[in-house]
Amino acid sequence: MSKNLPLGVPTLFSSLDSNARSLVLAAWDASHRAFCFQSNFPVGSAILAENDAGDKRIFFGSNVENKYFPATICAERNAGTTAVGEGYTRFKMVAVVCRKIPGGSPCGLCRQFLTQFGCDAVLLNIVDSDKNVRIATVGDLLPGASESVVEAYETLSPVEKRKVDRVLALKAKAYVPYSKSPRGAVFYATSEKGDKRGFAGISADNASYGGSVAPENVAMQTARTAGFTRNVSLFVSVEDVHAHNPIDGEVLQVLREFGVDSPIVLVGPDRSILRTALTSLLPDSFGPESL
Ligand code: THU
Repeated sequence: MSKNLPLGVPTLFSSLDSNARSLVLAAWDASHRAFCFQSNFPVGSAILAENDAGDKRIFFGSNVENKYFPATICAERNAGTTAVGEGYTRFKMVAVVCRKIPGGSPCGLCRQFLTQFGCDAVLLNIVDSDKNVRIATVGDLLPGASESVVEAYETLSPVEKRKVDRVLALKAKAYVPYSKSPRGAVFYATSEKGDKRGFAGISADNASYGGSVAPENVAMQTARTAGFTRNVSLFVSVEDVHAHNPIDGEVLQVLREFGVDSPIVLVGPDRSILRTALTSLLPDSFGPESL
């Protein structure tokens, strides 16, 4: 099984430049204001961002939990929305600390959020209480599928052709009045008894945007409801199998709960496929072991 290897170059706090050091200290400080009565897992983030006038400022935030878990806001998004709300939409450097050492790396939803404001931003993931870091970029958090072999529909087995057809038939049923980006997914899984089944999902937009549900998440939760949680794999329709970040970060985070490296098959509009896996699309993921 592939490992969930940490991203970035290990770097001592003392060898960071003064900008990076200030950011690390601001993130550390912010973690002390975490509102984390549910998890007791304080996280802090600080973002150096630039506005249209070229001014740079540091914004920070901590995780803010809610008794309704999905309303929880992670530290990175808390810091990031504060920056954007002040007109600082270009993120240059992002520092994150999960105070429980060794902590973790940003969750899939935060990755999705952060990449919107600058894939080139330097990511400083604080790894210990001496405030040493691993340095990567925000773009590294949600790469494209590195596997480059696209398989044409004609070359697939009859079983796989049916799987591809099923995903594309689901895509045609998606409810997407606002995003206008229909997608379909099938989540294959095995039950405790050894039965195998595919669970279907379509995109379902919501007028609130945030209440929209991704097809993969529908499929994964239906499988879990039926007791099918083993040996999972995900077939999803995507616009471009080679795209950077072909599947939403939140979806990858939901898949992470089923294991560290499940297979994923990206199905392009022309019915060709690209086989990849969770560790390729969500490297150094935040998972149950991070808590
Ligand atoms: N958390 C963050 O603030 N950032 C992340 O990237 C991962 C998770 C928070 C959310 C929740 O309050 C707690 O950590 C446990 O997941």
